[in-house]
Amino acid sequence: MEQSFKTDIIDKEEKYQHFLPDWELLISGETDETAVLANTCAALREAFGFFWTGFYLVKNGELVLGPFQGDVACYRIRKGRGVCGTAWAEEKTQVVPDVEQFPGHIACSSLSKSEIVVPMIAHGEVLGVLDIDSDELATFDETDRIYLEKMVDTLVKNIYNKQ
Ligand code: SME
Repeated sequence: MEQSFKTDIIDKEEKYQHFLPDWELLISGETDETAVLANTCAALREAFGFFWTGFYLVKNGELVLGPFQGDVACYRIRKGRGVCGTAWAEEKTQVVPDVEQFPGHIACSSLSKSEIVVPMIAHGEVLGVLDIDSDELATFDETDRIYLEKMVDTLVKNIYNKQ
C-alpha cells in the first residue's frame, strides 16, 4: 500500500476536507485497534506536519501510551492529570493554545507548545484519547476540534464497533 497524505493545501478547513476521505479509505476494512490507531497517527502527522500525534488508551483505570508518531512520551497518565487526564475526566475536548498556561500540564517534551486532546467516548465510557502536540503556540482551534472529533467518532464506530 502506498498512499501519500502530503498536500500543498494551506487553508486548514480545506486540508481537513481533503484529508478525511483519504483517511477513511486508509482505515476502511481494518478493525484491529493497534493497526488503525498507528496508521491514523502517521497519516495525521504526514498531512499536517504536527510535532506529535498519538493515542493514550484507558487500561486498568489509567491512560497508557498507545500508538504514536513523534518523540518518546510518558507511559501513564492518571484521570484528571495533565491535558489528557482532564479530557478523560471532563469527557470533553481540550484545546490548549499555550501548554505553560494549563495547570498541571505534563511536559513529555519541552518543545511542545500547544496541544489538543480529544476523548474517544462510547456509551458514556472513555476508551482513550487522541493527543496532538505542536511545537508552535496556538496551533489548534475550533476547526481542529470539529474535524478531529469527527475522526474520533469514526474510529469508535470502526474499531470498537460501538455507538
Ligand atoms: N501533554 C500531555 C501529556 C502527553 S504528551 O503531550 C505526549 C498532558 O498534559 O496530558
